[in-house]
Amino acid sequence: MIIAVDGPTASGKGTIAKALARHFGLPHLDTGLLYRAVGAQVVANGGNPDDPADALAACDFPDGLLDDPELRSEHSGGLASRVSIHPGVRQALFERQREFATQPGGAVLDGRDIGTVIAPEADVKLFITASVQARAMRRWLEMQGREIDIPLMDIEKEIAARDMRDINRADAPLRAAEGAHVLDTSKLDKDQSIAAALEAVNAATGQSPCP
Ligand code: DC
Repeated sequence: MIIAVDGPTASGKGTIAKALARHFGLPHLDTGLLYRAVGAQVVANGGNPDDPADALAACDFPDGLLDDPELRSEHSGGLASRVSIHPGVRQALFERQREFATQPGGAVLDGRDIGTVIAPEADVKLFITASVQARAMRRWLEMQGREIDIPLMDIEKEIAARDMRDINRADAPLRAAEGAHVLDTSKLDKDQSIAAALEAVNAATGQSPCP
């Protein structure tokens, strides 16, 4: 079974994808991490993330980079969003994601274009969304927990800018795939979001929910 989980930043898609993978015993790929690694590698190379050739050259990043905790930062997310607009970068990362999606037994992938480009044949497509305010508040709380003090307004602006870039890029823009189940997590906590996603998967696959 292939489960595609798409949605904007801080919508809860990563948490949901991980929980679904655990529940169904499937491998999980956070595809945003690949774009984050490309963004970090461009900087390491002394290149410009907005330059298509520099970004393409950075697709050769070493696999060890994927374990760098710095990739989880807001800054890395912004760089990832910038390199992800280049069609060459998307092409270079396509095969790796496609192979993961089509491995025997299935997989869960989360990102922006899993249901539209990487695995349009996915058995279940979820589009996880939430208001900018709700997403900014989550990020802010997460950062407070890590003792990083950033004004909420700045996070809101950064998230809105990232949405604009991801939605308006020409190649594989962020949008719900046809037939995707749209789940708005604005008013849901983590457990409620996971439960709602699980219910949507069970409904889509015709399985009855676990007792
Ligand atoms: O999911 P994330 O926040 O880690 O993603 C970081 C950026 O990477 C996101 O703003 C756009 C890009 N991305 C993408 O274009 N396609 C994907 N499948 C995943 C991420």
